[in-house]
Amino acid sequence: MDIVMQSRKKTVSPSHSWQVLERARDSIAGGDSSTMRVLPYHLPLVAEHGIGCRLWDVDGNEYIDLNMAYGPLLFGHCPPRIIESVTRQIGENGSQLGFPTEISMRVAEKIKACFPGMELMRFANSGTEAVASAIRLARAVTGRSKIIVFEGHYHGWSEGIFHRYHASLSDLPPAGFGAALPGTLGMNGGPRDVIVVGWNDLDLLDRCLNAHLDSIAAVVMEPIMCNSGCIPAHEQYLQGARALTQEHGAMLIFDEVITGVRVAAGGAQEYYQVAPDITVLSKALGGGYPVAAFGASRAIMRVIADGSVFHGGVYSGNAIVMSACEAVLDDVTANRSKIYDHLEAIGRQLANGLDEIMTRFHVPHVVHQVGSIVSLFLTTDEIEDLHCYRDVRRHCDFDKYIHFQHQMQRSGVYFHPNQFETMFLSTEHSADDIATVLDRVEDTVRCTLVK
Ligand SMILES: Cc1ncc(COP(=O)(O)O)c(C=O)c1O
Repeated sequence: MDIVMQSRKKTVSPSHSWQVLERARDSIAGGDSSTMRVLPYHLPLVAEHGIGCRLWDVDGNEYIDLNMAYGPLLFGHCPPRIIESVTRQIGENGSQLGFPTEISMRVAEKIKACFPGMELMRFANSGTEAVASAIRLARAVTGRSKIIVFEGHYHGWSEGIFHRYHASLSDLPPAGFGAALPGTLGMNGGPRDVIVVGWNDLDLLDRCLNAHLDSIAAVVMEPIMCNSGCIPAHEQYLQGARALTQEHGAMLIFDEVITGVRVAAGGAQEYYQVAPDITVLSKALGGGYPVAAFGASRAIMRVIADGSVFHGGVYSGNAIVMSACEAVLDDVTANRSKIYDHLEAIGRQLANGLDEIMTRFHVPHVVHQVGSIVSLFLTTDEIEDLHCYRDVRRHCDFDKYIHFQHQMQRSGVYFHPNQFETMFLSTEHSADDIATVLDRVEDTVRCTLVK
C-alpha cells in the first residue's frame, strides 16, 4: 500500500490509468470485476489493447506481457487463427444458437484425442463452474461426501471448494491435514466436508486418507501447483497419489485449468503420464475465450448423461467459445512439437536467465519452470528449494518481489506483483523478447535489489 501511495504522491498529473481506475471505483466494486486485478499494491495499469506478446495501456505505455491474462493466451493477444475462426462462426452461423451444435461435437472429439480419459465431457463457462461440477460428480458416483484439497491450490470460488488457499502459517492444520477454512466471508459453513493437506508429501496424504477411511469422494489437485507460485509435483508423487486414491476408492481429480493444453496438448496428465479419474480444463483451451470442460470415463459420466446429476448453463458450449477452442485444438494438434518445443525453449531461457542474474547479484531466490510456466521466488535467505505452500510462506519475501515488479513494470515488462502468481509465456514470445526481458531484469536488479 505504501508503495502505491508514494507513487501517487510523486505523480504530478495522474496517469490516465489512475484516472480510469478512480472513476471505475464509482461504478464497479473495487474498480474491476476481479479482485486479483486491483490489489492494493498494483501499480495502476488499465489495458487498452494487446498484440502478440505485447500489451499497451491507456497512457500509451508498451509492455512485454508475462502474464498472458493469467494463462489463457497460449497464442498471445489477438491470435489471427482464433480471430478468423470466431469471426467466421459469428458472421456466418451465429454466436448462441440455443440448440446442440456440430461444432461442440467436433471440439469434444478433438479434446478427447488429446485427453483420452475424457471419454465423455461437458462444457462450462469458467474453471470455478467446471470444478464445482466435477466434485459434485465425484460425490454422486462414490456416494461419499469428503473432498481432499492441498494447501496453496486454488480451484475457483464456489461454495463447494473455495478454501483459504493462502492461509497464514498459524491457520494451517498443525497435524499437516485438517478441516479446510472458508475462502471468504459468507460461505455459510462451507466448504463443507473439505479437508486440506500439505502438497508433495505422500506419507501425509496416506495418513489423511486413512484418517477418513471410506469417506473420501475425491482428491482434487493442480497436478502442477501454480497458484502459490509454480511448485511441480516431486518425482513419483502423482503416481503415488494415483495409487493411494485407487486403494481408497476415491477419485483423483486433476484440475488442469492452468496446465491443460499449456504444458502439453494433453496437459499435465500427458506430460507426467498419470491418468486421473476426472479432468477439468479451461484457460489455454479457449485461447482467451471463456470456456471450461470437465470429463471422465463413460462409467463416471453416465450420471451426467442420464440427468441424475444435474449440469446445465445457458452459455455452456456456446458457438463463440467452441470456435475459439477448435482453432486452439487444431493448432496444438497439427503443430504439437513445434509449439511445445518453442514454449519449453523460451521458458527455459527465461528461467535460466533469471537464475543466472539473481545468482550473480547475490539476490536470494528460487526459480521453477515447467514449459511456458515460470516462477521466480525472491526469498529472505539462501535456500535450496521450495517444495510446498508452507515453504513459500516461510521463505519468500513478498515486499521485495512487489518492489522488483514495480520497477519491472516501469521498465516495460509486466508480470503480476504477487509472487504467488506465476509468469506465463506464449507462442508469440521470441528468444529476442526474452533476451529483452532479461536485460531489463539485470538493470532493475542492479539498480534496486543490490545493496
Ligand atoms: C487451477 C485453477 N482452477 C480453477 C480456477 C478458477 O477458474 P475461473 O477463474 O475461470 O473460475 C483457476 C483460476 O485461476 C485456477 O487457476
